[in-house]
Amino acid sequence: QKAKMIIEKEYKLADVDSRIYGSFIEQLGRAVYGGIYDPGHPTADEYGFRQDVADMIQEIGVPIIRYPGGNFVSGYNWEDGVGPVGERPRRLELAWRMIETNEVGTNEFIRWANQLNSEVMMAVNLGTRGVDAARNLLEYCNHPSGTYYSDLRISHGYTKPHGIKTWCLGNEMDGPWQIGQKTAVEYGRLASETAKAMKLVDPSIELVACGSSFRAMPTYADWEATVLDHTYEQVDYLSLHTYYGNPDNDVANYLARSLDMDLFIKEIVAVCDYIKAKKRSKKTMHLSFDEWNVWFHSLESDKHLDPWQIAPAQLEDHYTFEDALMVGSMLITLLKHADRVKMACLAQLVNAIAPIMTETGGAAWRQTIFYPYMHASVYGRGTVLQPIVVSPLYDSKDYTDVPMLDSAVVYNEEKNELVIFAVNKSVEDALLLECDVRGFQNYQVVQHTILENDDLKTVNTAKQPNAVMPHDNGDASLRDGWVQATLPKLSWNVIRLQ
Ligand code: AHR
Repeated sequence: QKAKMIIEKEYKLADVDSRIYGSFIEQLGRAVYGGIYDPGHPTADEYGFRQDVADMIQEIGVPIIRYPGGNFVSGYNWEDGVGPVGERPRRLELAWRMIETNEVGTNEFIRWANQLNSEVMMAVNLGTRGVDAARNLLEYCNHPSGTYYSDLRISHGYTKPHGIKTWCLGNEMDGPWQIGQKTAVEYGRLASETAKAMKLVDPSIELVACGSSFRAMPTYADWEATVLDHTYEQVDYLSLHTYYGNPDNDVANYLARSLDMDLFIKEIVAVCDYIKAKKRSKKTMHLSFDEWNVWFHSLESDKHLDPWQIAPAQLEDHYTFEDALMVGSMLITLLKHADRVKMACLAQLVNAIAPIMTETGGAAWRQTIFYPYMHASVYGRGTVLQPIVVSPLYDSKDYTDVPMLDSAVVYNEEKNELVIFAVNKSVEDALLLECDVRGFQNYQVVQHTILENDDLKTVNTAKQPNAVMPHDNGDASLRDGWVQATLPKLSWNVIRLQ
């Protein structure tokens, strides 16, 4: 089978906003406790944060991390998580039905993220709380000094304001599982008034309004239109969330689900532009895909968890090789919408549906999905190009005309580097890829990395952390302005030219 791409420097889609390589840490399960924070761990720093995990996060280069939820935020009193640790309350955490000790809160998390050169995308509670708690938290974080909440922060040992720029106005407020679920009108009004107050406190911040929890929600699209009707001029981004899985064990159909993500983005862009037209607004709404991943392995076992544990093993998906292909395809989909998607968060980062797994007190390892995420973040910076792509197609149970070649191209002008990310979704055949790169004179292929595996269900574990690992033995070559490369069946590929 053959696929062809014509790549031209001038066919630009948009600059990549590096924040599309963001991630997410929720106060849930072992994401924080036993994940990023584990004071008894041999690599823990003076604040109790694991350096083995921090090193892996830095390997990826995560520009922004969403915190503290997720569903968690809709019942969170931020005041519980600041001040002397010994005085912080233990709470019944209702979203995940566990005990939250509040040992780690806003300041600890921000200090940790800053050490990793990551910004924090902070979410406020619009479930059980509202305008007042949101504006107070913002004053606590961002106001320099001389007011109640800024001086409280200083009294907690943080003299300099945190300068948090990006704020989420609640989380998945359309979902019946959400504490304090709202109708679109209720949420739209609350988000708009909260946005107004927050921008009075600090006009430099950017705000994200909640879109639908996923594309199949019954209120989908109407929710976005109504919420934006109320908030269009106050907010800067609209959020999208999605998770996919392969419960039917049908890999061709599974990998085709990136088409659903693609359609999701296109439809939400259409809704945003409809409201823009209706309001005759000059502003274009951008998207924050602030939860996306594969999530299905742990769903069943989590139903049987005993409630009210501290840091239970919750949402701990052990990712297979085929999940890494799906994550690669989702990354490609985000890149193909770089003109509108300016932020995105792989949900999540450690232990809970995460690229990094740990044993509390023990080993840390890279899950299969770590690799496409790391490759995209490290090499996918620059300008997304719009190649012409000709690919063989296949049909699956739920999708027709699925391109076997899923690809995105990023050109980094400063580094004189062209990077092709490609997934071959063919279950049977290698794809011979031919790329016209005649516009890129004097370039060479410097790398062709492949993630492939004979067993689609292989996972990495503490004992076998490298069962799924990329290799650099791809055969991509460049001759007379054409790249030729073999993309093995069911593989993730990174081809770099310099
Ligand atoms: O990321 C896990 C959960 O998925 C989040 O808490 C919630 O927002 C979504 O439903």
